[in-house]
Amino acid sequence: MTHSQNNGSGDKEMETKTRPTPNSLASVASGRAQKQPGTAPLGSGLEARGVHAWFGSHLALRDISLDFSAGTVTALIGPSGCGKSTFIRTLNRMHEFIPTAAFAGQVLLDNKDIYEASVDVTKIRLQIGMVFQKPNPFPSMTIGENVLSGIKLAQLDVPKSERDDLVQDCLERAGLWNEVKDRLDAHGGSLSGGQQQRLCIARALAVKPKVLLMDEPCSALDPGSTLRIEETINQLSSSMTIIIVTHNMQQAARVSDYTAFFLSDGGPGELIEVGPTSEIFTKPRDQRTENYVSGRFG
Ligand SMILES: Nc1ncnc2c1ncn2[C@@H]1O[C@H](COP(=O)(O)OP(=O)(O)OP(=O)(O)O)[C@@H](O)[C@H]1O
Ligand SMILES: [Mg+2]
Repeated sequence: MTHSQNNGSGDKEMETKTRPTPNSLASVASGRAQKQPGTAPLGSGLEARGVHAWFGSHLALRDISLDFSAGTVTALIGPSGCGKSTFIRTLNRMHEFIPTAAFAGQVLLDNKDIYEASVDVTKIRLQIGMVFQKPNPFPSMTIGENVLSGIKLAQLDVPKSERDDLVQDCLERAGLWNEVKDRLDAHGGSLSGGQQQRLCIARALAVKPKVLLMDEPCSALDPGSTLRIEETINQLSSSMTIIIVTHNMQQAARVSDYTAFFLSDGGPGELIEVGPTSEIFTKPRDQRTENYVSGRFG
């Protein structure tokens, strides 16, 4: 994996000035060893079928069908307002938190529809975790308490004797352990932005999700912290399915196996094309994808 170019995705101005040519993106993407679906014994992954989403009478997403194979990373890209956040929120039923929101379609986790009436939504959100754009640790809880907070909220039974090991394991997997191991009793709010985001990842990992949804997780971070999170994503992807929204094409090329391009052309957001990341950046099938990844709009 190549980390030579390192744009912080929050810095849109810088990104525009240094917007890469398709060739450089292509070389970043193809420098990454692509995983083949189905090679990880992690279940069959997540599948969206015919997803539609509304806010009141406004149709925000039309007929999105996308497969996310277990153990792979998929980047969702597209211009602002095309429905990426809306879509990612339908994948763990967060969309329904929004008043007036409506949904149609299916989302299958290991072949079972998470929207079935019999499904316990709380359990679904444990299996399909989410990390947001802005790091949101509990500022007055300690680092250790933050990691365990999801477990406490979900009333999962983890014996006291195992909690220290779990905290360490999650912080290690989130790439934060070495920086905080001597101050687990410090407040979550005392960490830097990048550390807080890794703490949120550790918190999400503690409930052992199968899928991790990340909506622009690096957009508030500096380039160094961004790189650190990307390394974490890379390491985690061997044990889970990851879906990441990003405006940073370089980031999509660096971290993802597959890329899905969304667009709303005055109407609802639609999926224009999806494919292996190296193909999306070298030979996209649709001219609109080509225009977007080469920086002609968006
Ligand atoms: N809570 C909401 N209430 C009403 N409309 C909403 C709400 N959230 C999003 N929308 C609308 O749905 C559409 C898709 O928005 P969404 O936030 O999913 O886009 P996005 O691709 O994530 O954009 P960005 O890249 O700017 O984050 C937009 O037209 C937006 O105005
Ligand atoms: Mg968004």
